[in-house]
Parts: sequence; C-alpha cells; structure tokens
Amino acid sequence: MKKPYIFSFANSKGGVGKTTSCIAVGCCLAELGYKTLVIDLDHQGNMSDDLGRGEEDYTITDLFEDPKFDINKIVYPALDGEEPISNLSIIPADITLAVEARSAERFRHRLTILDDGIKRLSESYDFILIDLRPAIDLSIENALLITDLIVVPVDMDRRAVKGIDDLFQVVREIRRSENFVYTLVKTKVNKAHSKMQKSINGHIEEAGYKVAATEIRVSELFKQATEQHRPSPLFAANERPREDYMQLTKELIELVKVHSNE
Ligand SMILES: Nc1ncnc2c1ncn2[C@@H]1O[C@H](COP(=O)(O)OP(=O)(O)O)[C@@H](O)[C@H]1O
Ligand SMILES: [Mg+2]
Repeated sequence: MKKPYIFSFANSKGGVGKTTSCIAVGCCLAELGYKTLVIDLDHQGNMSDDLGRGEEDYTITDLFEDPKFDINKIVYPALDGEEPISNLSIIPADITLAVEARSAERFRHRLTILDDGIKRLSESYDFILIDLRPAIDLSIENALLITDLIVVPVDMDRRAVKGIDDLFQVVREIRRSENFVYTLVKTKVNKAHSKMQKSINGHIEEAGYKVAATEIRVSELFKQATEQHRPSPLFAANERPREDYMQLTKELIELVKVHSNE
C-alpha cells in the first residue's frame, strides 16, 4: 500500500486558523480527487463538529485508551451538513481525549500509538491531515513524530509567531533529527492593515522562517461557515475562502512532493 503524506496543523496560539486550514485543505484535496483522512487531535473537537462528527460514540480517545483498538471503527465519512463529502473521511475527537492522552503515558510504545494505528487502516489514503491542539501532549507528540509537513498558520498578531521555536524544538527532540519540513501560512491577511502586516512580516523575516507564497485573506465568510458548522470551501464555494485554500493546497502538494523527491 502506498504511504500517505501526513500534514499536521500546529501553533501554540489559538484562533490562528489551524482548524479552518485543516478542514479547508482537506476539502480541497478531496475535491482534487485525493483520498483524504483528517484526524482531530484537539479535545475541543472543533473540526469534528464542523464535519458533522461531533457526537460519535467512538473517537480517537479509544485508540489512546487501547492501542490495539480497531482504528477502522473510528473512521467516518466527513459531512457537510447531512451530505457526505466525497473522498473525505474523519477520525473525530471529543473532550475525553485530554485525560486519555495523559494516561496513555503508561504504555511502552506510547509515542507510536498513532503511527501503529494508521498502519492498520484498511482503506489507503493519499493524504492524512491532523488538527493539533495548542499545547503539546502525548497525542500531539505522536502526530509530530510521523508528520511529513508541519503547517503553521499565523494570523496578523505577533503572538502567533511566539511559540514556533518551542514547537520546532519539540519536533527535533521527538524525531531526534534536525530535519523536518514546515511552512508558515499567513491567515486573516488584510492588506488594508499595512502596519500590522509590516510588523508580522518583519518578525518572520528576522527569524528566517519559511512561509508559503499563498496568503489566506481575511473574510467574514469564514466566521459564518464556522457558525453554521460547515467547511469554508463548501460554504463559500465561489469566493475567496475556497480560492485561497485551493491555491494553498496546490502549493503544499508541491512542497511535500519536492521534499520526498517525487
Ligand atoms: N482567513 C480568515 N478570515 C477571517 N476569519 C477567519 C479566517 N480563518 C479563520 N477565521 C475564523 O477565526 C476563528 C478561529 O479559527 P480556527 O480555525 O478555529 O483557529 P484555531 O484552530 O487555530 O484555534 C474561527 O471563527 C474562524 O472562522
Ligand atoms: Mg482549532
């Protein structure tokens, strides 16, 4: 079976667009014909709610509770309202994950619970996207260990770039390697606020971070989509949200392919 590319969406600041980006890139990959699985690793379950799977009996918690649990039981078709989204599946999370990720520390193979689970998926996927919570715990370490591309959404607030060095340090420690692929993605970009733009751009340049050429523009449509628990590219099919995320998705595909020498 072909190995899927794994993307993780991470930033220690909340509200920067991790969940929005994970869902949107997932929908765009699915639309491009790639079989895609998104995994919610945030016990707040925002992604699960927005893809119609916020109330399932079995969730990612079951895997961290019992690493031998059949992962295929927690894979659901993602929904836009009532409608299944073609090519898109989800492993949901709920509030119980917070406690279970802690108690999974007792397992000897605790860092590879997710990796081992993914290897037992009966369907094959082209891409697996993981939505991370803002703080590092065992479940997040599991994800960072197997990620091919770390996507770091940053909004136009200086605090959005504050925890990045710490995140990268964790990645180096878990993987015992200096080599990993990442990109920052600017979200909520508003060209009219040039002062904020300059400040954040200055900071990114100073730190020497790699940043995606595609920027995600600010739009009220994102909030409306979130309020209605719908994926933004489907809610705003002919508008900026889909346009920007489709362009970003193509850029991310190229990036990960270049790094895996395809
Ligand atoms: N480009 C954007 N323009 C305007 N609002 C956005 C944009 N991206 C995300 N949002 C809104 O910002 C809020 C937080 O986004 P979310 O993806 O949940 O952040 P995180 O997962 O990092 O906490 C949501 O209400 C979402 O609709
Ligand atoms: Mg989130």
